[in-house]
Amino acid sequence: MSLKDAAEKVREKAYAPYSKFKVGAAILGQDGQVYSGCNVENVAYPEGTCAEAGAIAAMVAGGETRLTEVYVVADSPFPVPPCGGCRQKLAEFGSPDVVVTMASADGIEKSMTIGELLPGAFGAEHMEGN
Ligand code: THU
Repeated sequence: MSLKDAAEKVREKAYAPYSKFKVGAAILGQDGQVYSGCNVENVAYPEGTCAEAGAIAAMVAGGETRLTEVYVVADSPFPVPPCGGCRQKLAEFGSPDVVVTMASADGIEKSMTIGELLPGAFGAEHMEGN
């Protein structure tokens, strides 16, 4: 299944009773497998998780820790970019040149790299010597 199809399919499963904003994310692992996730909200709002976090969790649970491409879709008038926290989460598992395609439900797409989404990212190299 393509990343786009996987993201659109999993978006339907999103649990978003509070925001009513369903998001689907699909990740291509270095192993060639597609991993997907949706947002899962909670009545204690900060406990909710983003679609990207769900897809990353599925990838790690599947035994892969490197990602090579990302697709995110939401029912928005224009493509929705990952939140700040998800940018850091994506940077943990993907190199700065990995392309993240953001899409609206009616098919408008915008692609940016992880490096463009999170310039000057904090990384493991900053902790060298500790
Ligand atoms: N959300 C995501 O799942 N991914 C994003 O990239 C942006 C925001 C979710 C979190 C929350 O459930 C809802 O969208 C509204 O913020």
